[in-house]
Amino acid sequence: MTVITKEAPPRVEGRTFDPETIRSDFPILSREVHGKPLVYLDNAATSQKPAVVIEALENYYRELNSNVHRGVHLLSQKATDAYEGARETLRAFINARSLAEVIYVRGTTEAINLVASTYGRRNVGEGDEVVITAMEHHSNIVPWQLLCEDKGARLRVAPMDDTGTLQLPELEKLLGPRTRLLSLGHVSNALGTINPLRQIIDMAHDRNIPVMVDGAQAVPHLAVDVQALDCDFYAFSSHKLYGPTGIGVLYGKEALLKEMPPYQGGGDMILSVSFEKTTYNALPYRFEAGTPNIADAIAFGKAVEYFQEQMASGLLEYEEQLLDYATEQVGALPGVRIIGTACEKVGVVSFVLDCAHPHDIGTIVDQEGVAIRTGHHCAQPVMERFQIPATARASFGMYNTRADVDALVRSLHKVIEVFG
Ligand code: ALA
Repeated sequence: MTVITKEAPPRVEGRTFDPETIRSDFPILSREVHGKPLVYLDNAATSQKPAVVIEALENYYRELNSNVHRGVHLLSQKATDAYEGARETLRAFINARSLAEVIYVRGTTEAINLVASTYGRRNVGEGDEVVITAMEHHSNIVPWQLLCEDKGARLRVAPMDDTGTLQLPELEKLLGPRTRLLSLGHVSNALGTINPLRQIIDMAHDRNIPVMVDGAQAVPHLAVDVQALDCDFYAFSSHKLYGPTGIGVLYGKEALLKEMPPYQGGGDMILSVSFEKTTYNALPYRFEAGTPNIADAIAFGKAVEYFQEQMASGLLEYEEQLLDYATEQVGALPGVRIIGTACEKVGVVSFVLDCAHPHDIGTIVDQEGVAIRTGHHCAQPVMERFQIPATARASFGMYNTRADVDALVRSLHKVIEVFG
């Protein structure tokens, strides 16, 4: 059985990924914080944006601003072309079969809520079950809780072991005749674990159970091919992928999307409206009510093009090496415990120190210009599983270097001096 994890797209011969060149593409990286150079290690919360993305936003408002799908005038046509062109970039990026399968949403959270409110409302009934995992972000827990409460259905949770690895035999046992959907993260935001999606999806499909994937933390670090994965729904956000906030994608198999009732009603999602009967638009517009987030969708397309260029230069291998270095350096600190030690990991080093609460860690390293996230990372059940209130989390992006890891470690030594 194929386990698709870190497979990278083909490298373009003769190109080498160079983080130093990349850094100059991100204007914010040259600023200081508390009089120190910014070391930005909070990429799992949101990534920084390259100049091409910022310029695309500015260019849209300076040169193109107009509503899409509505006007015969030149600006409206140009805005529509740019907006739909970005959809094609996104389709190709995840290898969806058609544009009908690529729905613009506000982000991963909205995508999961959309599926819960439409596919879920139609297909989950009293006594049915929805299965998730113990490592989910709140956005892949709460929409299913709301649905299950509403329908009298049961939410079941597949456990993970002490390394933060999903226990597949336990997951398999939960997939039964009443399971209507399995929804799980591709990569855990709190632990960095990569789930063996292809294997899990096969396991679910053998029982005719569709699978929804929260890909928010995976897409910035892995090559994702929705056809190879054979997932039924896949959600991701632009802002973690070097694009603007407020835009993301829900991929869904056309056969499923066609059968789903609309999510929100309004303009653009209809074919005709009368007080007696309204008919709905074709996919993907049926799920895109109202004036969309045009500027951010266009800039999202630019972010993906930029990201793909870096992938073709060897970004994914570079990130793997940087994570290994960070794990080794942080892991060597006295009194440290890394939370999340699965064999297959990407993007994140979560940890606790014996001597200091994660919030104190975050505050002290911030004084050194180092931005990390501390807290429960919107994954409180993960914290409960490891019996800790919170972690400190360093998360990596394409512009991070070994020097950033060294700065983090120096600042953590200061924490240990103060509290140790
Ligand atoms: N879900 C984002 C994180 O992990 C905000 O930080």
